[in-house]
Amino acid sequence: MRAVSVNEYTGAQLRRLCLAIGLEHRADEVVEVVADLLGPAGTRGLAEPPLWRSDVADDHSPVEYSVAFEEDGSHTLRMLIECVAAAPGPRQNMAAALAALDRLAERYPLATDKFDEVRDLFLPEDPQGVFTLWFSFVVRSEGPPMVKVYLNPEVRGQAKADSLVRTALSRLGFTGSFDWVLAHQPRPGSTLDRFSFFALDLEDTASARVKLYQSHFAATAAEAQSAAGAADAADTARVAEFTALVGGPGPFLRRPLVSSHTFLASDSARPKGYSLYVPVRDYVRDDAVALDRTRRALRSFGVDTAALERAVRAVTDRPLAEGVGLLAHVSLRMGPPRPGVTVYLSAEAYEVNRPSRARVGAA
Ligand code: TRP
Repeated sequence: MRAVSVNEYTGAQLRRLCLAIGLEHRADEVVEVVADLLGPAGTRGLAEPPLWRSDVADDHSPVEYSVAFEEDGSHTLRMLIECVAAAPGPRQNMAAALAALDRLAERYPLATDKFDEVRDLFLPEDPQGVFTLWFSFVVRSEGPPMVKVYLNPEVRGQAKADSLVRTALSRLGFTGSFDWVLAHQPRPGSTLDRFSFFALDLEDTASARVKLYQSHFAATAAEAQSAAGAADAADTARVAEFTALVGGPGPFLRRPLVSSHTFLASDSARPKGYSLYVPVRDYVRDDAVALDRTRRALRSFGVDTAALERAVRAVTDRPLAEGVGLLAHVSLRMGPPRPGVTVYLSAEAYEVNRPSRARVGAA
């Protein structure tokens, strides 16, 4: 039997996913770009261990899918990808990612000016932490794909994260924004709220964003949501309802709730948007429960669930109750440019996590 490669496996998932959410006309392009970004991690046989223990997904698949349900009923497909070098390592993967970025910039009209302003901060000679540079490749029905880069605030060590983020925001013209975020941290002075990603849209439009993510370790829903006060658009009651529907009552002692603040054109220090990411897989027994909760959350926000069912079936045909982690996170986005719900789906290329009672917590 011929060994299936990561590209073949994820390529088939991506074709089905595109079909499931009305993006079939983009499928060839998506499959081609993802294979290009995956590089040597993609051509490898699935029977071999992953080339690099990527933190993109629990089983170290170097790609994770997400489907954004927009308020107008359309869908956006996003792929979160870690570029892996043939001889992988933090510095080698960073070089592979930068080479991939050059190829993307040849193909698409990317604006890298913001990235160029801050890259020396986030791309040191000797990167630390679980990743250095991830991409998200974002496809909608119309228009060129969008590319987003995720940088690691802890790339120079945890102790330097605050100053790195402060410097980056001020270089990008968001003067005062860092103080603003600090003033709204759920547990001031605590190391339980940690900056996890600094993300940039490589887009030259008024809606190009800078996003700052925080992981709220061992937080109650109320603690995580107190950061929502930092955004004009955050409707705390909706955020609370969403968190309870997807994650249960908390406290969230396993994988952390994550929040992000979106900064747009720098007319004020205040963030313009807020999102909350619930790592649903850590708070359910299995994916049947995770899907059920996700359905309910979508319905309560007025989103039709048919595309969700199709998207889940595009990624796997296994019985949902026989694994956990297919639905990795579910997030709620508030404020411009696009409010809505996003569901993160694991490729499970290497492994399916078995259901676990422990994940549900004490109850
Ligand atoms: N796999 C990592 C985690 O779950 C990183 C990650 C991938 C992530 N997609 C995400 C984190 C979406 C938050 C939201 O933490």
